[in-house]
Amino acid sequence: MSASAMDHVYRVAILGCRGRGTAAARAYHQHPRCQVVGLCDLMPERLDQLGDELGVLARYADFDKMIEQERPDIVAIPTGTEFHYPLAMSVLEHAVHIDVEKPLCHGLEEADQVIDKASTKGVRIAVHHQGRTGGAMRAIKMAIDAGRIGEPRFLLGSGKGYYAGYGLMNIGTHMVNNMIGLVGHVRSVSATAFTDGRQVTPEDVIPAAGGMGWIAGEHITANLSFDNNVTGVLLQHRLPKVDSTAYCLQVYGTEGRLFWRSSGAWHLPVPHEVPADEEGVWQRLDDIIPEHYDHTGAATEPDYSFANEYVRALDEQDEHECSGREGRHVMEVLMAILEAGARRRQIDLPQVDRRHPLTLWREEAGLEEPAEMPRPYHEWLAAEDRRLGR
Ligand SMILES: NC(=O)c1ccc[n+]([C@@H]2O[C@H](COP(=O)([O-])OP(=O)(O)OC[C@H]3O[C@@H](n4cnc5c(N)ncnc54)[C@H](O)[C@@H]3O)[C@@H](O)[C@H]2O)c1
Repeated sequence: MSASAMDHVYRVAILGCRGRGTAAARAYHQHPRCQVVGLCDLMPERLDQLGDELGVLARYADFDKMIEQERPDIVAIPTGTEFHYPLAMSVLEHAVHIDVEKPLCHGLEEADQVIDKASTKGVRIAVHHQGRTGGAMRAIKMAIDAGRIGEPRFLLGSGKGYYAGYGLMNIGTHMVNNMIGLVGHVRSVSATAFTDGRQVTPEDVIPAAGGMGWIAGEHITANLSFDNNVTGVLLQHRLPKVDSTAYCLQVYGTEGRLFWRSSGAWHLPVPHEVPADEEGVWQRLDDIIPEHYDHTGAATEPDYSFANEYVRALDEQDEHECSGREGRHVMEVLMAILEAGARRRQIDLPQVDRRHPLTLWREEAGLEEPAEMPRPYHEWLAAEDRRLGR
């Protein structure tokens, strides 16, 4: 790559300035090869708060105008999930690269359209699964690649204890992306999905909290088959209390084990049949972090590393590690889990029928669309408990 390409500063615009927009903006602002050139939000106070923090004066309520005037290379789309698809399609019309929050969208038809549009426009998509590019996950990946656990055999990932279908779309999306980053794509899925202690029925297909699309299942256990004899289990079980520490991933190899959570990575140099305290102890692995990351800045390390990966990808005219295609494969896995749980059968990937498996299932049962449900999770959960007669 030429020296001038390495000097290029990527112009970044942020469409949506609340929690995740603030996180993305801080990461791009702190990166030496990026400049936040514009902010957009429908709520002026959010624009002003973030604009004042970063010293960005170009503030807009209309994202088309922002893109036309500020000419960004990348537009970040950190909005509610139901807006990812329409906003991505509109922003891609401008032929700019996008960084869209996870999950990419609600289903496979939408994901296909977003990817086709980016391809037609000659631009790239990154889906904001920052855990995969963060220092702890990079340490896990490096340990596997270095053979420190022998051959990987089995992955066990779990959610934070949300109602399973919602947790799957919200947190499971990160975990599946982590898993495929370590051992490759999923070839088939089977799952059990229970609501109220019984197998889900078409009546249990409901709109998720937070605009996350159609779901079914309060407790889901999914079995995933990867290439090379690697299998995995993803647990999404509603717990009495949401618990972020439950969100973790274990990797079992022929010669050792690895443990990941967002705060760090650990290695145990003995396989699962050997008790840890007899033959070894868990050792903390060093996070793999870009050397220019400033811990004292406002950007979190995984978000910064995610931005850094976009700089690398665009410099090298390569895909982001969390590309649109990877994000779509995550959606394929999520849809397969929902379908496998509903229909009690194995689903092979990629699916030929791209329609949402649960709306189809509900329609086949002759049911109408379910009633609307509240958007905030705790109100949503209370409504679901009422639906279940609790
Ligand atoms: N990557 C992660 O770790 C992580 C963590 C939490 C949430 N998320 C994802 O982030 C998303 C939610 O992010 P949030 O909580 O910051 O969202 P939010 O809904 O609280 O905020 C979105 C902002 O975008 C603005 N907005 C929406 N549509 C707009 C439009 N057309 N034009 C201008 N502004 C517009 C809204 O006014 C709002 O201020 C979800 O998709 C969720 O899955 C990701």
